[in-house]
Amino acid sequence: MIDLTEIQPPGVDRFPVRQPMPPAQFDALSRDILALKQQLNAVILAHNYQVPEIQDVADFVGDSLGLSQQAAKTSAKVIVFCGVHFMAETAKILNPNKVVVLPDRDAGCSLEASCPADKLKAFQATNPKFYTVAYINCSAEVKALSDVICTSGNAVKIVKAAPPDRDLLFVPDENLGSWVMEQTGRPMNLWRGNCYVHVEWTHASISRIRQQYPDAPLVAHPECTQAVRMLADEICSTEKMVTYCRQSPARAIIIATEAGMLHRLQKESPEKVFIPAPTENCRCNECRFMKLNTLEKLYDCMFNLEPRVELDPEIMRRARLPIERMLEISARPIEAAAGR
Ligand code: 13P
Ligand code: SF4
Repeated sequence: MIDLTEIQPPGVDRFPVRQPMPPAQFDALSRDILALKQQLNAVILAHNYQVPEIQDVADFVGDSLGLSQQAAKTSAKVIVFCGVHFMAETAKILNPNKVVVLPDRDAGCSLEASCPADKLKAFQATNPKFYTVAYINCSAEVKALSDVICTSGNAVKIVKAAPPDRDLLFVPDENLGSWVMEQTGRPMNLWRGNCYVHVEWTHASISRIRQQYPDAPLVAHPECTQAVRMLADEICSTEKMVTYCRQSPARAIIIATEAGMLHRLQKESPEKVFIPAPTENCRCNECRFMKLNTLEKLYDCMFNLEPRVELDPEIMRRARLPIERMLEISARPIEAAAGR
């Protein structure tokens, strides 16, 4: 049995991990949500960064790749998407005839905002040889302008499969893009966008926590800067973090990603201690967009079937092709994925 006080970093309460709602309140509302889910023949999909009480009522909790795979195969009539807007849009693009609702329409993403479709279109026009690989954290309009979509979980595989005779343009995350270049050796033009949460970790703040816990491996998301990634033992998507931590012999692990991840990790590996990596200014490591969703708003969106994701049919048709290409490449065995 691990003595938590022995490993818990001093001052860890400065990086609060949201506590679940009081069980009595949680139980009543979640029971209502589960009953509504049955009535509607709905599926609840939730991202790993959602608050614990939402994760706990979801049918599936995962990373962007897992969520799009679930959305692609669901037979439910209604998709309730607990994540940010571009994720719910992806589910709608894959299911144009289904109702897709989300708890809060304002759940955006700083990466999505950094790459407006008109600016991308103008840049693409400067080079007819561009092959655009778009990280899934972008709008439906940007997806419609892209050749293939990727997530942090499959970006390396997707880029390896890109046509060798084209100039790669990777949008919108410069940090994920530079990590993929390191992994594949393939040069790419990088759009200058980033995740406002993941750039908060610095080389200095991570070095300090590593010195404090020299035996704890560091797991970081590829949206972190190169200065942070170079200190990591593992760089991966949120879903791969679950597998890595489960398989690691370490009893304490430092996690550099959004705070919601800790609930999932703790649930999957209850015997381990997860240390939230501190940011330089000790700012909160929660994504304000992901945290707009609450259990109450989840209930309301199911009860009212609003807000719904509505998209232009032509944009959906064009955006579906690069998403389907991603799903197809992702499903290939590793050796068959490269060079086609
Ligand atoms: P994952 O696909 O790894 O869950 O990442 C999504 C995201 O928004 C990271 O900030
Ligand atoms: Fe976007 Fe960053 Fe929030 Fe992920 S954590 S949804 S990349 S703003």
